[in-house]
Amino acid sequence: CGIVGYTGRNQAVGYLLEGLKTLEYRGYDSAGVEVVGTDGELHGVKCAGRVATLVERCETANLVGTAGIAHTRWATHGAPTDKNSHPHRDCTGRIAIVHNGIIENFRELRSYLQRSGHTIVSDTDSEVIAHLIEDAWAGPCKGDLVRAVRHACRRLEGSWALAVVCADAPGQIVCARNGSPLVVASTEDGAYAASDVTPLASVASHVIQLENGQFARLEASGAVEVFDEEGVPVAVPTTIDIDWDASAATLGGYADFMAKEIAEQPEAIERLLAGRMGEHGVFLDELSLTKEELAAIDRVYLIACGTSYHVSLIARTLIQTWAKVQVICDYASEFNYEQDVLVTPNTLCVVITQSGETADTLTAARRMRGMGCKVFAITNVLGSTAARESDGTLYVQAGPEVCVASTKAYTAQMVASALLALRLAEARGEMDRSEVERHYRDLCALPDLIREVISRAWQDKRAAALFRRAHSALFLGRGVNATTALEGALKLKEISYLHAEAYPAGEMKHGPIALLEPGFPVVAIVPEDRVHDKTVSNIQEVIARGATCVAVATDGDEAVASLVEHVLWIPPVSDELLVPIVAVVHLQMLARYVARARGCDVDKPRNLAKSVTVE
Ligand code: G6P
Repeated sequence: CGIVGYTGRNQAVGYLLEGLKTLEYRGYDSAGVEVVGTDGELHGVKCAGRVATLVERCETANLVGTAGIAHTRWATHGAPTDKNSHPHRDCTGRIAIVHNGIIENFRELRSYLQRSGHTIVSDTDSEVIAHLIEDAWAGPCKGDLVRAVRHACRRLEGSWALAVVCADAPGQIVCARNGSPLVVASTEDGAYAASDVTPLASVASHVIQLENGQFARLEASGAVEVFDEEGVPVAVPTTIDIDWDASAATLGGYADFMAKEIAEQPEAIERLLAGRMGEHGVFLDELSLTKEELAAIDRVYLIACGTSYHVSLIARTLIQTWAKVQVICDYASEFNYEQDVLVTPNTLCVVITQSGETADTLTAARRMRGMGCKVFAITNVLGSTAARESDGTLYVQAGPEVCVASTKAYTAQMVASALLALRLAEARGEMDRSEVERHYRDLCALPDLIREVISRAWQDKRAAALFRRAHSALFLGRGVNATTALEGALKLKEISYLHAEAYPAGEMKHGPIALLEPGFPVVAIVPEDRVHDKTVSNIQEVIARGATCVAVATDGDEAVASLVEHVLWIPPVSDELLVPIVAVVHLQMLARYVARARGCDVDKPRNLAKSVTVE
């Protein structure tokens, strides 16, 4: 979910709605806004659907006031309906809250509140918070909104980022953070709160990052005060500079953010690689481990979710092949409930998370740290929780990714993993200097190879026609490109709602082959590599069943071209382990064209959110 708050000298609603639009990638089932009116009452609008629907509704509502909070929701408890949308009010209608996270003990709190006379109107876990604050405000904490919110939070179990307004404390917004991200900013025009820096990039150059257990009072003068759990002012809150250009989160002439972000991949990788090879080898000081400590690492755990999990699969091959260290990959949501985790005293844990806020991944990192492991994060968000809680962080610097389906963060994270693998290989003496430099040169060649693939988007557009009326699709690949197949299938299903499955090509005969029938679309990733001929045999098996095959193949591969319906050509890549970073770009573009042909919103696929901050 996304939270925005503003109190200051300007009207609040304009900024709040604009802020919600930039946070919509965090969830967009429903949205709402609440303003403390000049008449001393709360005025709000909330509804199921996108922020655009809320904006329309707000046009006819009288939302005049200089303090307010707003929310865009990714439903956890309670369907995405008007009633379940945030903000939620207390019984008096004078307190309103927006919440991101999950209140685990909401059932107990709900029945306790109902027994004591409160009427709860929504099905959400969040509404109880408004009622708890109401009791605190009416009782022991009258006149002190921070205290009332602190009092209420003491009864909560779970995770929360909160912003609260009260008609009897006009001009104030009180925020709280425990487990879900929240940043606040103090400016001449007023004070701001948001789930992440995206809506603040246009109004502030640095923000205060609330830590777990902290509270903040925002005032119309722009003043921001931060308090700890006991209500003691925090003298030096954590601040982070916003290094994003606000324009980076605008479309800039592209039809959608996905198109823009696909096009930004070469520059993102160039930024990440710049200056990484120096006199003393691969420059990766972010690891904060000495060469001796690196050399001693005998196991690496890679933990991630979603697209980032696919990065971990590529990273495993790179680390095992180059650095000769055993690597275990796991989905964070699975890892967290595994009974036995086999760590050695020298196990390194690497969490891969573009947002740095995925709740499952954060839990996994904490579990690993609890077992004495060093934790390293690969992330795209400066100041994110994963970054702050890790021993070292490599920022992939891909810039804000607005489209929910990840593209540039995915490829940049793969390149970051390659740097890590090289650094480990070097420290362990598995590669000499010239080999390291050769691999680095191969990495530096990637941006131009990707540019070349992007210039061939017409091939994807043409192939997309095959999927327009399909019900399902199968993606096949071997070795590292079994992962490319996984990512291609994920992209397609995420944004076009077409069922897609990925399989290692050699495994197709053990099950998925039963799906094949005339016209069934199969995408095979078959570059020039050591398993090329084996994959060609699998393509033959596909074609023999009348299915329609699209292949991602290397320029000049006439053998493949003569077999399949469409070829998505990639230029030759000097190291076959790096092919996934180039080949996936075709699959991103293919998915986008299919989604557009099927009339889907490519940037905001249904039911998904970019950053899933609940477990
Ligand atoms: C969500 C997003 C995915 C992303 C996954 C993990 O499901 O929709 O695109 O891969 O979260 O996110 P992370 O920020 O941890 O990489």
